[in-house]
Amino acid sequence: MAQETKAMERISTGIGEMDKLIEGGYPRERSILISGGPGVGKTIAALQYVNKACESGLSCIYLATEETPEELIIQANQLSLPLSKYVENGLLTIEPVLSERMEDIQWQRAKTPARAIFKKPLDCISKSKADVIVLDNLGSYTLDVTMGAFREQMDLLIHTIRKKQMSSLIISDETLTERYNNVALYSVHGAIHMFKRENPFTGNVERLINVMKMRGTKTPLGYVKYIIDENGINIQNPKISK
Ligand SMILES: Nc1ncnc2c1ncn2[C@@H]1O[C@H](COP(=O)(O)OP(=O)(O)O)[C@@H](O)[C@H]1O
Ligand SMILES: [Mg+2]
Repeated sequence: MAQETKAMERISTGIGEMDKLIEGGYPRERSILISGGPGVGKTIAALQYVNKACESGLSCIYLATEETPEELIIQANQLSLPLSKYVENGLLTIEPVLSERMEDIQWQRAKTPARAIFKKPLDCISKSKADVIVLDNLGSYTLDVTMGAFREQMDLLIHTIRKKQMSSLIISDETLTERYNNVALYSVHGAIHMFKRENPFTGNVERLINVMKMRGTKTPLGYVKYIIDENGINIQNPKISK
């Protein structure tokens, strides 16, 4: 275990001061969960991560359940992230798992075995030779699935990613109820929660990050403030005590 801590390599989060908060970045070849409600910036965090990974020569696959590849490229362009360049040179593959999701839902209704819930992402992961994988997002896959089946499938997903020595970012939104989120939380190596909260002193709504867990890493105890602007996510108080 001490060896794991010592040897842990990192991949930059792609978010300015964020790396400083978690000893240099996300642990390599591990799965990190980013959870939060709609509009907190989960997809932006993923785009910044993928951009930075491509920039450093890592190949990436982005499994998108909500947006089309075109929409993601537009969102990236607005943030001045040159993702289209990486799609063109083959470093980045954006895989739409949008329509397949609908099939999956029908499938579940037809009481097909639960082992099929992550079929599409698992197929993509199995075939892919990428270094980095993003699944945006998990919430799309939990309709009508029992807790036991979800746990089993989550473990299978994480295990498959680990076996392929990929570094992954798994995003979950609030379509995933708290109980499912807790299951997901146990399966992963690290977890970050993004949320908005009204500051009781100023009355202003703030955006906050909570590093819930990151194995083998010193993490900030308090919530870390961030903003979203034309450069994407920016950490506001990186010197927070640990
Ligand atoms: N240029 C910008 N300036 C300020 N806020 C922005 C800008 N671009 C996007 N946002 C914010 O980011 C949110 C979308 O982030 P996104 O990562 O797509 O959210 P989600 O967590 O749902 O994936 C928008 O709702 C908006 O609040
Ligand atoms: Mg999103």
